[in-house]
Amino acid sequence: TGEGTPEPRAPVVTVMGHVDHGKTSLLDYIRKSHVASGEAGGITQHIGAYHVQTDHGMISFLDTPGHAAFTAMRARGAKSTDIVILVVAADDGVMPQTEEAVQHARAAGVPLIVAINKMDKEGADPDRVKNELSAKEVIPEEWGGDTQFIPVSAHTGEGVDALLEAVLLQSELLELQAPRDVPAQGIVLESRLDKGRGPVASLLVQTGTLRRGDIVLAGLQYGRVRAMLDENGQPIEEAGPSIPVEILGLDGTPDAGDPFAAVESEKRARDIADFRQEKSRDTKLARQQA
Ligand code: GTP
Ligand code: NA
Ligand code: MG
Repeated sequence: TGEGTPEPRAPVVTVMGHVDHGKTSLLDYIRKSHVASGEAGGITQHIGAYHVQTDHGMISFLDTPGHAAFTAMRARGAKSTDIVILVVAADDGVMPQTEEAVQHARAAGVPLIVAINKMDKEGADPDRVKNELSAKEVIPEEWGGDTQFIPVSAHTGEGVDALLEAVLLQSELLELQAPRDVPAQGIVLESRLDKGRGPVASLLVQTGTLRRGDIVLAGLQYGRVRAMLDENGQPIEEAGPSIPVEILGLDGTPDAGDPFAAVESEKRARDIADFRQEKSRDTKLARQQA
């Protein structure tokens, strides 16, 4: 297999911030305002990740499960995210998890965009947010820094278009590319054991194209992709770079942040998975004996 032909790809954005500052609400608003009108309303979000087509280009978003993958990947020196949106509630300001998110993004070398959320609330004080973040060396462009601060409301939708534009502006600077014409590789966002369907894993494809029927090795697990679903739970046949999907067919539940790859044969997948499982048992045993 060659390197493939690099092609432009959508940015992958992780939304981070303090508890209850509005990460999920913001993602819900963006999702609702950007799905095809026929789908709107009845959708249940199957995975904490989705992609939307905006007027200016496609964007993939990861919510809290993406946060777990982000942290796990970072511990291994790999990367799940191109841009972090840091959500800070305008009526609450910078809190411990806000600072944590800044550290994460900085350590990973991922650019930040600040969404000052809950602008509709009485007591919203965007200048306070700017001041508090400046003290942490996250400085607004209008104050001579290099970070975009966008006031938004996840309830009214105010500022959300400006936020999406800011993401795409930042993404252009990054010149993101990945080949499509190679076997898929990426990361596990989350996984769970479903009573009826068995192990279900949410994956983010980072390079190449994942297809139904592919043999996938994910962390310590492997299997043939029996079914692949998009973020709306609709069956799909293939997914390219920056696209989150849900797959059925693995023989177990890999961890968030585990890498995955499509491999050429079931035998090869099994051999590598067996080897990794043995190694992981040895590590556990060594720990117990220490
Ligand atoms: P965790 O995932 O639990 O950390 O929270 P979160 O950051 O995802 O926050 P979430 O979206 O759950 O919102 C927390 C609360 O704030 C909910 O009651 C939301 O309705 C409310 N909220 C979120 N965004 C806004 C906003 O823009 N304006 C107002 N007025 N309320 C908001
Ligand atoms: Na919440
Ligand atoms: Mg949430």
